[in-house]
Amino acid sequence: MTVAYGERTVLDRFTLDVDPGSWTAVIGPNGAGKTTLLRALAGTVDHRGRILIGGDAADDLSGRERARRMAVVPQHPVVPPGLRVFDYVLLGRSPHQGLRFSASDDDRQRTADVLERLHLTPFAHRAVDSLSGGERQRAVVARSLAQDARILALDEPTSFLDLGHQFEVLELLDTLREEHRLTVVSTLHDLSIVGQFADRIAVVDHGRLVAHGTPAEVLVPELIADHWNVDARTKVHADGSVTVAVQRRRPG
Ligand SMILES: Nc1ncnc2c1ncn2[C@@H]1O[C@H](COP(=O)(O)OP(=O)(O)OP(=O)(O)O)[C@@H](O)[C@H]1O
Ligand SMILES: [Mg+2]
Repeated sequence: MTVAYGERTVLDRFTLDVDPGSWTAVIGPNGAGKTTLLRALAGTVDHRGRILIGGDAADDLSGRERARRMAVVPQHPVVPPGLRVFDYVLLGRSPHQGLRFSASDDDRQRTADVLERLHLTPFAHRAVDSLSGGERQRAVVARSLAQDARILALDEPTSFLDLGHQFEVLELLDTLREEHRLTVVSTLHDLSIVGQFADRIAVVDHGRLVAHGTPAEVLVPELIADHWNVDARTKVHADGSVTVAVQRRRPG
């Protein structure tokens, strides 16, 4: 696909295959085009080219059908002021509801289960806009899980979370991926973490796909230096995961 904002092309003939059941992390420096990619997947920005979901052209699906197949978590979700956490997460169920959009007992139960799994039950009656950044982020992830889509596309799902909660949310996504054979596509900024969860990594820079492969193939010091301009040491573990330590570059 190609995406332009006005005259400016920000995704340029971008092609990416995502295997069902995989976790593909899209990484790249600020402004590379990661959020634009997820917006195109969500259908909220115009693109040229094709997006195929399980072989079907996304543009041919109704909004509801698209939402039943793919839940998209934006980098900066807009939450109506005063909306309670429970009702916000319940909105994730709307693609499954009839035309009158009335929540069933089953929808409420699914919502309560997801809140429980994300330790959000004590916050169920709080307004989303009264939560801390990290609590709010968990609520946003909860809403996407309540949507029950086989594909989860998440834009920086851990950016406001402390280290413990980052691992908790990513671990939960990984568990759900295995249990329900979900396909996860996420952007993640933290190079030290990304190679421990994703099994495929796509690197975007200046709107182009510059690398795509396993963590061990992609997360190498040369590539990290080329695209992030930092010195990194990488360690490949027996299970194929990769940890990255970034070193300070001292002047002179
Ligand atoms: N609505 C818009 N109008 C014009 N330019 C835009 C718009 N949205 C994004 N851009 C530009 O497109 C480029 C890609 O933006 P995008 O948000 O996709 O980057 P990103 O890779 O998600 O960056 P970050 O890591 O900072 O989130 C940037 O240069 C950005 O300024
Ligand atoms: Mg972004």
